[in-house]
Amino acid sequence: MTAINEVVDLATEGRVAVVTVNSPPVNALSANVRTGIAEAVQKAGADPAVTAVVIHCAGRTFIAGADITEFGKPPKGVPLNEVNAILEACPKPVVAAIHGTALGGGLELALSCHYRVAVPSAKLGLPEVKLGLVPGAGGTQRLPRLVGVERALEVIAFGEPMKAAEAASHGLVDAVVGEGSLKADAVAFAEKLIADAAPLKKVRDRADKLGADPAVFAAFRKANARRFRGFEAPEACIQCVEAAVSMPFDEGLKFERDTIMRLMVGTQSLAQRYVFFAERQAAKIPDVPEGTPTRTIAKVGIIGAGTMGGGIAMNFVNVGIPVTIVETKQEALDRGLSVIRKNYENTAKRGRLSMADVETRMGRFTPTLDLSALADCDLVVEAVFENMEIKKEVFGKLDAIAKPGAILATNTSYLDVDQIAAMTKRPEDVIGMHFFSPANVMRLLEVVRGEKTAKDVIATAMGLAKTIGKVGVLVGVCHGFVGNRMLAQRQREANKLILEGAMPWDVDRVLYDFGLPMGPFAMSDLAGLDIGWSRETSKGETPREILCEMDRRGQKTGAGFYDYDENRVAKPSPVTEKIILDLAAKKGINRRQISDEEILQRCIYPMINEGAKILEEGKAIRASDIDIVWINGYGWPVYRGGPMFYGDTVGLPEVLKVMKEFEGRHGADFKPSALLEKLAAEGKGFKDLK
Ligand code: COA
Repeated sequence: MTAINEVVDLATEGRVAVVTVNSPPVNALSANVRTGIAEAVQKAGADPAVTAVVIHCAGRTFIAGADITEFGKPPKGVPLNEVNAILEACPKPVVAAIHGTALGGGLELALSCHYRVAVPSAKLGLPEVKLGLVPGAGGTQRLPRLVGVERALEVIAFGEPMKAAEAASHGLVDAVVGEGSLKADAVAFAEKLIADAAPLKKVRDRADKLGADPAVFAAFRKANARRFRGFEAPEACIQCVEAAVSMPFDEGLKFERDTIMRLMVGTQSLAQRYVFFAERQAAKIPDVPEGTPTRTIAKVGIIGAGTMGGGIAMNFVNVGIPVTIVETKQEALDRGLSVIRKNYENTAKRGRLSMADVETRMGRFTPTLDLSALADCDLVVEAVFENMEIKKEVFGKLDAIAKPGAILATNTSYLDVDQIAAMTKRPEDVIGMHFFSPANVMRLLEVVRGEKTAKDVIATAMGLAKTIGKVGVLVGVCHGFVGNRMLAQRQREANKLILEGAMPWDVDRVLYDFGLPMGPFAMSDLAGLDIGWSRETSKGETPREILCEMDRRGQKTGAGFYDYDENRVAKPSPVTEKIILDLAAKKGINRRQISDEEILQRCIYPMINEGAKILEEGKAIRASDIDIVWINGYGWPVYRGGPMFYGDTVGLPEVLKVMKEFEGRHGADFKPSALLEKLAAEGKGFKDLK
């Protein structure tokens, strides 16, 4: 065996040369990996004793893509397109041996080999679109030549990988080989190619699957307009596939190259790459290092079978953890379980679950009215009404029931976890696990660290988040934690703006166009305007209270801020408009024209400012954690990187300047935080905080 460099080896097995890449953790195509492969293949190509070449990777995966950490830095080493050209031009058959995930540049490299074999569990994909990019080393030109235009459009513009079996059905993989014998099977495959005098198949020479009806592209754009809204990269991906059809191979390659270079320097890709690393960073907690012991969670208890409790329970049941679910009344328990069943049945109807799976999952529930049934649970999540007294009472009881070492979690979205923990004799076992509604769907889990929460409890909760497919973000105790605390800033301004001169649909339109899934008033209508409202205590002093008093309580009553037709399509409402105008007059407010720019700044800059306060107070570990909260819990557009990243994009001196103007006009709600002042004065951004 010859070491080509630190990360690439060349060995021979009989007359087959085996190039092995060993660059943990994911064999990303760093400059060393690219240069090593190019050299190894050239060497093998020139060696008369060698008849074929196998490219193989050590560790958990085939090459999982370009090395994202190199993006935006001066290029080093042999470019991937050149490596690919070397592979394709090799005078001996080159076989890629794929396990794990052949992603991005990894798949592009494999597509430049003459043959590909893969183990059944392998996945192949081009996820660049998720980083705001197009594949940049021939992926958009070669993939359609193997899998056809329609499938290639999906794989490239959605960025979702394909399983080995499907890849084999298209000829993207030439053979599916043994899970435990990839290298040996790949060598045998190569030997057989030689024995059969098989041709050197070059994907670039294929054109038989490119005969797409041009209408395919228009139809694809139309069908996915909602999914792609605001993003630049999906459209660029479609254009590259169009180029594969309309241009000769090398011109298509150049078009693809120009496209990726353009996107690479754009704000969207910068934001999306930032988010990729930010999400992984969120799992890292300075004083709870990797390797901190965790507690085994084999059985979970949930208190409350309402919308939240039921949704939370589904997360555990989905990964095979049995759940004891407790309610106070049989009727509520039955209702909760029937909602869960309906949810699963709907998933089954869409073909994503079998009816047998539905039964298996339902079979993992133990419904009960008896709190003491939680005695054998390793984790109990309380999801009762958001009221401190009720929560305190529940935790007092729970303390007497739960076994020693059990983790006691509250799903509160605002309340003081330390006060709740103080109701127990074991505050070190108490933690907040704030799920977002619908809890079985939303990816965010705010893990709330109390003053006394033990480190192994934190490590367990963060690990559990990953197990159930969530992004866990560790936050500190404060009113509303990170997400809702910042949301309150936006809501306050939205409410003020509609009295000062805007209408709810103006505010909603501006935030929707910014990229959020919906604005605050459409959101209120969806959630129900009467959450936390009661006729007895209503003062009729805000548009929301007046709407509730008129029984306009949102979508569920056919009217709220908006009027809804029978298909729940929203229309601006003259009733709401009159309520707002009358109320403004009553309050003596001189309504004025408010620009879209002001609406955006008024809603978003105070959020950034609040995020800065959260950092000052140490309630979030890092600015990027705040961004991950907003992206995964509130639908903040990924291509804007989260509110803190957005603040940096605008420039903190500019944010500060506008905040000060607003402070002058509208008062203390806009008082800049000390951190914002400091960073702006130093010409720095949140990204510069260490
Ligand atoms: N470049 C540089 N680093 C990468 C990387 C890449 N393409 N892909 C993963 N990593 C790093 C991660 O940042 C992480 O680093 P950390 O341990 O310091 O946090 C580590 O490799 C492991 O990645 P992780 O995502 O935690 O592991 P996983 O097993 O859950 O998933 C992958 C593995 C490959 C599926 C996933 O990392 C992935 O999707 N990577 C990106 C692939 C991609 O987009 N390729 C195209 C690039 S153009």
